[in-house]
Amino acid sequence: MLILGIESSCDETGLALYDSAAGLLAQALHSQVALHADYGGVVPELASRDHVRKISPLTQRVLADAGKTLDDIDGIAYTAGPGLMGALLVGASFAKSLAWSLEVPALGIHHMEAQLLAPLIDRQSDALKLPFVALLVSGGHTQLVHVKNFGDYDILGESVDDAAGEAFDKTAKLLGLGYPGGPQIAAQAEHGDPQRFRFPRPMTDRPGLDFSFSGLKTHALPTIQALTPLSAQDVADVAVAFEIAAVATLVIKCRRAIAQTGASQLVIAGGVSANTRLRTELESKLDAEVVYAPLNLCTDNGAMIAYAGALRLLGGASENLSITTRPRWPMTELAAI
Ligand code: KG4
Repeated sequence: MLILGIESSCDETGLALYDSAAGLLAQALHSQVALHADYGGVVPELASRDHVRKISPLTQRVLADAGKTLDDIDGIAYTAGPGLMGALLVGASFAKSLAWSLEVPALGIHHMEAQLLAPLIDRQSDALKLPFVALLVSGGHTQLVHVKNFGDYDILGESVDDAAGEAFDKTAKLLGLGYPGGPQIAAQAEHGDPQRFRFPRPMTDRPGLDFSFSGLKTHALPTIQALTPLSAQDVADVAVAFEIAAVATLVIKCRRAIAQTGASQLVIAGGVSANTRLRTELESKLDAEVVYAPLNLCTDNGAMIAYAGALRLLGGASENLSITTRPRWPMTELAAI
């Protein structure tokens, strides 16, 4: 079954072709980072308009790269939420109209379920041992999920305020670094002195699996103000203190989640799962196997949407012709695959 996957929930237009027998055939991604750079964050209306411009040429490109035509497509999967309403609607209406004209099914996919499944794209389908724990860490979400089965999720804990990626982005902005801030903080942290500052590990002094990251960013502010004008070494030293604290917080909660559930695997997914310190620390401090996707599948992409779509369509899922997108969408409301 050949599935066209479409991701347009935020500031990346991602298209991909996934074949349930042959695997991932092609993918193309356009990032809008440069478009939003002057505004310090994603401008929803600009994001929607850019998805409109890119979605059709990127579809042509993945078809050409895979040596396929529109007539070869057996189904279309698109991100139906969570995300920016206008951006989601571009992908959804493109997917629905194309599917209708080709007389194939279209299916709305939950963005975070797709992220959670991304490590399976290039592995055997039995590589994950159910039930397992997933840490979803992106610019919009920080959640610990107990995956009892594909499609059957319990939220063990989540951020009560900022997402981890958001805290990386906001702290990077305070340091005068560009967007997205996660990779910039990580690069600066490599030259930082880890002994100079110690940032707090929020909400680790009490039981529970919820996170809070806004306090960590707020802690960075007076430190940065006191140092201004910042030298290159100051930037690197604050970056490493922030990264160590953010990663330590995530690791502490993951250890707790593994202990609480008895799971033998932790899947990490979402943009922040690209962070090398997070991967290394989890691998050394967790009594569980740590599983993650290749770097190009950690951040938003069409391949994970195509893959999740293939699993659900092969499982018999279907939907009617109406276009329904959900900017907020709890994963616990999904049907089992
Ligand atoms: O999953 P994603 O591409 O988009 C959504 O938020 O949906 O995640 C983007 C987030 C941004 O906040 C970015 O700063 C963060 O992931 N990120 C990182 C790294 N690479 C991306 N954070 C820490 N370290 C990284 N290496």
